[in-house]
Amino acid sequence: MINQSGYLATQIEVVGTQHKKLFKLVNELTESYHKNGTSEKLVDDTLRQLVTYADKYFLEEEELMLRSKIDPGHVNVHRMEHRSFIYDVNNMLTYSSNQEDLSALTEKLVGFITSWLTHHILATDRIMEEHIFAIQHGASSEKA
Ligand SMILES: [Fe+2]
Repeated sequence: MINQSGYLATQIEVVGTQHKKLFKLVNELTESYHKNGTSEKLVDDTLRQLVTYADKYFLEEEELMLRSKIDPGHVNVHRMEHRSFIYDVNNMLTYSSNQEDLSALTEKLVGFITSWLTHHILATDRIMEEHIFAIQHGASSEKA
């Protein structure tokens, strides 16, 4: 049976794997775009996959934060970032159809998603990992 500390260590690894999957989706869009040009279907399919996957993964991450009992202030801000990403990508889905310049739209999407993920993973997710690590090593929620 896995103990709480082992569980958290495993979950941190899972977070790393999920990040790779998110970038893989964006890379697939970029590659396909450079190879075959873009299409409404490509943009639509990628955004739908991204929002489905990100939503599921963000919920797992939020559950991990609650289970780890890290600072609720961090959890709230972190959750807000997740929700605003899902909101933005859903809006892109709604407004991406009937765009005249699909190439410009695709480039914009790739730019937005890549910079959001990079910022979130390097800043917010890293802070979360540090909090969890500190708690694993005996810090209280307030000090973590
Ligand atoms: Fe996150």
